[in-house]
Formats: sequence, structure tokens, C-alpha cells
Amino acid sequence: MRLRNNKDAKGIITASEYVINNPKDYKGKWNTVFNNNNKLYIEIGCGKGDFIIANAINHPENNYIAIEKYDTVLMYAVKKIDKNIPNLRFIRMDALEINEVFDKEVDLIYLNFSDPWPKERHAKRRLTHERFLKLYDDIFKSNKTIFMKTDNIHLFEFSIESLSDYGYKLKNISLDLINSDIKENFMTEYEKKFSEMGTRINRLEAYKD
Ligand SMILES: C[S@@+](CC[C@H](N)C(=O)[O-])C[C@H]1O[C@@H](n2cnc3c(N)ncnc32)[C@H](O)[C@@H]1O
Repeated sequence: MRLRNNKDAKGIITASEYVINNPKDYKGKWNTVFNNNNKLYIEIGCGKGDFIIANAINHPENNYIAIEKYDTVLMYAVKKIDKNIPNLRFIRMDALEINEVFDKEVDLIYLNFSDPWPKERHAKRRLTHERFLKLYDDIFKSNKTIFMKTDNIHLFEFSIESLSDYGYKLKNISLDLINSDIKENFMTEYEKKFSEMGTRINRLEAYKD
């Protein structure tokens, strides 16, 4: 999601109590940010934040951190928060640096409508490419869990192969999320847009010891 650069974005996110501006300082000790040892769920590429905000509000028993590459996009997410959500934080960073920020403390990664990077020469940029799966290995607490949603069938097929080749076991695969028996589903901005257009949404859960 590239939006026209907003000159106020950096200032707004830097000033937000929900944005951690020095995330590398918390590597291995994110529990100190939340003052508890609850489970830590992260979303990579959160866009404008609907999904992670809804999760955090509905699940106060977990901690949530959303990562987004662009200031302007993250500014829109932060601006949506209109009440106290103590179990939610945001980080503005590229996921390529993720293992400089977390160390064996993440319980689950959400990848929602990740950029598909359709050209083969860009495959390494896909968030389910082996290059990223290797980085994720270092940040998971013990068992590795990735939940993914996408409208893009090519990215979905690529991810099924990439995750399986890497040793993940896939469960609850759906090619039509809205008509599946998944009970709780918080929609992202992209998901709302595509669902309104009648596009089917693909979803999977991936697990590795
Ligand atoms: C297609 S948008 C989807 C946004 C949101 N998840 C949704 O479903 O509405 C993908 C988002 O991931 C972000 N993103 C892509 N690559 C990233 C990376 N390497 N690190 C962090 N964020 C990334 C983009 O800036 C963009 O906001």
C-alpha cells in the first residue's frame, strides 16, 4: 500500500504513545512494554490497522504488535485509535529487520493481503519466501504459527509451496473465507474492499515445531 507521502506522518507517528520508535531496544523484552507475559501476536504489513485494532480490543488477554513499512500508512492506523488499547503497539519498519527487533518471544504472525510481487525476479520480496521464513524462525518463542489471508491466488499457491517446503504443516485451508466455518474473522481494509467486490478470500494456518 503506497499512499502519497504525507509530510505530517512522521511527526504524528513519532508522537503517538502506540508507536515504539526505538524497537531494537526491546529485543527479547517486549513483555516489559506491556507489563505482562501474555502471548505476543504480530502482524506484518498492517496497512491502516483495522485488523490489529479489532483483535486487540476483542482479545485483551493477548498482546498485539503491528508492523508497517511506510510512515503515511501507519499514520492512518494510529489516527483510528479513539480509546485506550493497552495491549496494542505499532512499529514502523521493514520486515527484513524483524530479527533485530524480536528474539524468541512471538507466538503467532499474521500476514494479511501481503504484497504479491507477481514478477518472478521479485519473489524474494514475498513475505512467505524462504528468506523471510528463516528470519521468522528466530523470533518465534517455540512453536511457529503463521495465519495468512490473501485475495491473490498466485501468492496463495506460492505460499502453500514455500511454507510446506520449509516444514510447516498447513491446516484449515480455505479458498472462500466468508463461506467457510472459520468463526472469528476480523476484516482488514483490503479484505473489506475485495469482499464487497465479490472476490473470494483465501486463508490458511501454518504450524511448525
Ligand atoms: C497490500 S497492503 C495490505 C494492508 C493490510 N494488511 C490489509 O489487508 O488491508 C500490504 C501492506 O504491507 C506493507 N508491507 C509490505 N512489505 C512490507 C515489509 N517488508 N515490511 C513491512 N511492511 C510491509 C505495505 O506497506 C502495505 O501497507
